[in-house]
Amino acid sequence: MLELKDVCFTIQKDGEPLNLVDHASLKIPRGHFMAIVGPSGCGKTTLLKTIAGLNPESDGSLWWNGRNLSEDGDLEPWEIGYVPQFSIAYDQLTVDESIEAATRLRVKTKNAEDLDARIDRVLEETGLAPIADRPVSVLSGGQKRRLGLAMELVSHPKLLLCDEVTSGLDPRSEREIVNLLHDISRKEGRIVLSVTHSLAHLELYDSILVLHEGRVAYHGTPEQLTHYFSVDHTELVYPQLAKQASEKWRSSWLKHSETYYAKLERNRQKLYDQGLLELPADELEIEEDEEEQATPEDETRSPGLLSQFKTLLGRRMRIFFRDRGQVFLQLAILICFPLLVVLFSPRANENMRKFTDGSGSTLQQKLEEQAGVQEDRLKVGSAVSGIIMFQVVLLSLMGSNNAAREIAGERQILEKEKFGGVSPLAYLSSKVVFLSGLILIQSLWMAGFVELFWSFEGDFAQHAIFLILVNAAMTAICLGISSLMRTAEKASLLSVYLVGFQLPLSGAVLALPEKIEPLTRPFISAYWAWSGSVDSLSGQYRSALASISETQISSVNLCFFVLLIHITLGLIASWVGTSRPQWEH
Ligand SMILES: Nc1ncnc2c1ncn2[C@@H]1O[C@H](COP(=O)(O)OP(=O)(O)O)[C@@H](O)[C@H]1O
Ligand SMILES: [Mg+2]
Repeated sequence: MLELKDVCFTIQKDGEPLNLVDHASLKIPRGHFMAIVGPSGCGKTTLLKTIAGLNPESDGSLWWNGRNLSEDGDLEPWEIGYVPQFSIAYDQLTVDESIEAATRLRVKTKNAEDLDARIDRVLEETGLAPIADRPVSVLSGGQKRRLGLAMELVSHPKLLLCDEVTSGLDPRSEREIVNLLHDISRKEGRIVLSVTHSLAHLELYDSILVLHEGRVAYHGTPEQLTHYFSVDHTELVYPQLAKQASEKWRSSWLKHSETYYAKLERNRQKLYDQGLLELPADELEIEEDEEEQATPEDETRSPGLLSQFKTLLGRRMRIFFRDRGQVFLQLAILICFPLLVVLFSPRANENMRKFTDGSGSTLQQKLEEQAGVQEDRLKVGSAVSGIIMFQVVLLSLMGSNNAAREIAGERQILEKEKFGGVSPLAYLSSKVVFLSGLILIQSLWMAGFVELFWSFEGDFAQHAIFLILVNAAMTAICLGISSLMRTAEKASLLSVYLVGFQLPLSGAVLALPEKIEPLTRPFISAYWAWSGSVDSLSGQYRSALASISETQISSVNLCFFVLLIHITLGLIASWVGTSRPQWEH
């Protein structure tokens, strides 16, 4: 039994409190199928989220089988299924893979057979078995809704909340989905609450809740709905609602609710008597456990962190390789960027004139020689410095491209999965490992490929490490941005600006005004990577550099340390952004 006692969800609007859900009181027995209807914006989604625990109630209390959810803790993630308005499946995966990932993330399965049995069962239940191998991208609207349901059913939730799962469907698919929800509510004593704007197929529900401006205007059987609102057709309920203030509707409902609840109870008794409801509540618990052959404790535990991490990483890699466009883009960047750098290598390879011992030459000759040497050094030195800066900037660009959309692009799925029990730590770790792979490939390839065309003199390992570090720093910072921004577009834009400012502010191309430099420098990853990498040069390159650089080169240790701080800050931001809730409403 789910019970709401005077539940409110209040927000502050223009300094005034506003009840989006206003003193809602309801009783919903097990094995019940309820529709939540009402005009657009009346608070249906808000009520559903309040029941789910996503909108903490501001007043009143929610009860589940005699347990006060606000005091004794919310339902476990596996006990609730929440099918939101948006699709929670990835286009690149198949139906089967989507359900498998959902199962692995939400329930601790005993072994491979247990996993397969669960997947097969929901595939059958939702009628998706014949199209299990199809990619999500080609599914019809109705099939996608089925998939959304299937992904929730894997944990055998006791409470299933659906938000507009029939909107935008053709009438036939709509009826099929409502029928499916009806069947689901008949099994295992499950409560199914379905938000819908549509007033079609109401006869399939056990009860209808009519909301008006966040207030309950009616909650009773579908048959009595038209009678209560004194209209001929259910379609006329909304116009009728608009005729009276919601406050009035509520008070008239409070007067009549008893009689309507009595009718609901009689209907329910009839269903039991006809054997249409699976089992009464208490007997059901025992039956369920026997069927699962598991102790309730086994069922309750969500999969461990490591197991979730593996599933998420596996899924991320699969999505990456399935997405041809993404693979192509990554390959193009990987190949073209180092080629761009190589274009500049001939200048760095030019022979530099050296000082002779100077004996027997006139002062004039000595001065000329000195000027010549200086000229060569300048040429080569700026080419070498430029090549390194170019590598650093291109790797920064790759870093921002790696991470900018990574979290922001799937934010709603992430929120949904966190609600389903996925640990933010497992999620973030899977991103970090996946991105680390990209970073290593990109940076080492950049360092190695350019090396082939350039007789690099110096500590190559040091040079490569700083290239890895700058890519990692930008990736981490942009991942942080991605986790904090509301949309992928904003995250991309901000990341691109961030890279764009690296080059001019690095001071490696143009020296900055003395007063500004100390202020900006600490934030410019490109400077520290350039400085650390340039420091690895030796021999003639080193002397060439000494003659060109107006920009001061910092000690390697400091460069290393600052870049590590950048990476750490990026990761901290990513952690904050990932773990804080960010639902769209
Ligand atoms: N957390 C929130 N903060 C501010 N406004 C909100 C919040 N949640 C919902 N709203 C607003 O409350 C109203 C009801 O929203 P909603 O429950 O989504 O309506 P619907 O019945 O169409 O599902 C809308 O005007 C929406 O913008
Ligand atoms: Mg809604």
